[in-house]
Amino acid sequence: MSHLRIGLIGAGGIARAAHIPGWSSVPNAEIVAVCDVNKGVAESLARDFNIPHVFTDFRDLVKLDLAAVDICTPNRVHTPSVLAALGAGKHVLCEKPLAVTTGEVKAMAAAAKKAKRLLMTAQHIRFTDKITALKGFVQSGNIGDFYHARVHAVRRNLLPTSPGFIDDRLSGGGPCMDIGVHALDSALHIMDFPKPVRVTGKTAVNFAKGNDIPGAWGEWDRALFGVEDFASGFVHFENGATMVLEAAWLQHQSEGEDFSFHLFGKKGSVQWPSNTYSSAVNRVLIDGRAVPTAGLKAAHTEEIIAFAKAIREKKPSPVPVEQTLIVIAILEGIYRSAKAGREVRIKL
Ligand SMILES: NC(=O)c1ccc[n+]([C@@H]2O[C@H](COP(=O)([O-])OP(=O)(O)OC[C@H]3O[C@@H](n4cnc5c(N)ncnc54)[C@H](O)[C@@H]3O)[C@@H](O)[C@H]2O)c1
Repeated sequence: MSHLRIGLIGAGGIARAAHIPGWSSVPNAEIVAVCDVNKGVAESLARDFNIPHVFTDFRDLVKLDLAAVDICTPNRVHTPSVLAALGAGKHVLCEKPLAVTTGEVKAMAAAAKKAKRLLMTAQHIRFTDKITALKGFVQSGNIGDFYHARVHAVRRNLLPTSPGFIDDRLSGGGPCMDIGVHALDSALHIMDFPKPVRVTGKTAVNFAKGNDIPGAWGEWDRALFGVEDFASGFVHFENGATMVLEAAWLQHQSEGEDFSFHLFGKKGSVQWPSNTYSSAVNRVLIDGRAVPTAGLKAAHTEEIIAFAKAIREKKPSPVPVEQTLIVIAILEGIYRSAKAGREVRIKL
């Protein structure tokens, strides 16, 4: 089994909480370098996990002899670091959203093709026990062709407070990009990525500039807040299917967090995260549940294991960039439509 030397770019919350444990579950893989513009943050991670090389500029990290680079920086830093890593001949795993525009995703896809290296978006929810079970069930044909999807990523008072999320110059979007991307990617994964053709979107700042809703993750800088706190979209797909998408960090609702979808097919419908399905056979109404797959590790860990396996076995990316392009095209379309005040066409 080949030894995988890994470089980590961005040493903040998700790197420490999910990517470090993920890589520690991959046999014969080792994080040998870490980079963060905040030197103290990089040094602290290096100290805690015995990482020998520390950098503050990702262009220096990618010069090392590495199999792959794992990118956990704020959204708008993804593109330059992904392109630098691919340009240096490294495989790349990058946090979501891979980029905030389709132009950037296309540039990354071209760079990965040219370098003959894997590019994978860290859409960890695909690797959860529930989505894995639901995907297998839907692939059996029991739900039939999908004609509509309701997709939610809405929170009552969970607004991430760091500049990387609320400063548009770093994040490139609010909850639509941050959490809409999760629910949307998961729903499209189950639907087998139909091609979107048109979208109508709306974005708003309803509560984040005020003080009515107390953030459960603490206070945020109201002046720096430059993204939406609510977004909604209506999507038309080439095959005639439609989708309603809602994303929010702050709003009046009883659930602290509602990450969910309900996908309607001609033979039945499926819901996540309940994993329930509803159908009818011979005029008998049926309800059931796709039981979560037993024995899976944490989703980020499964995702990193899948990435390492694809590198070693020279297999395609477990999250193909063509699928990420569809996800980002829809999210970008919501912002474009909101700005234009009308429906917009999606060109992939
Ligand atoms: N999959 C998930 O569940 C999940 C959860 C949280 C965050 N994320 C994603 O992970 C990424 C990082 O989020 P986070 O919560 O760890 O944020 P964070 O703010 O905690 O950490 C980001 C780190 O990147 C560093 N950084 C900024 N610019 C840099 C640059 N040019 N070069 C190197 N380092 C740089 C910052 O100093 C910071 O330490 C975001 O894209 C976010 O959307 C994913």
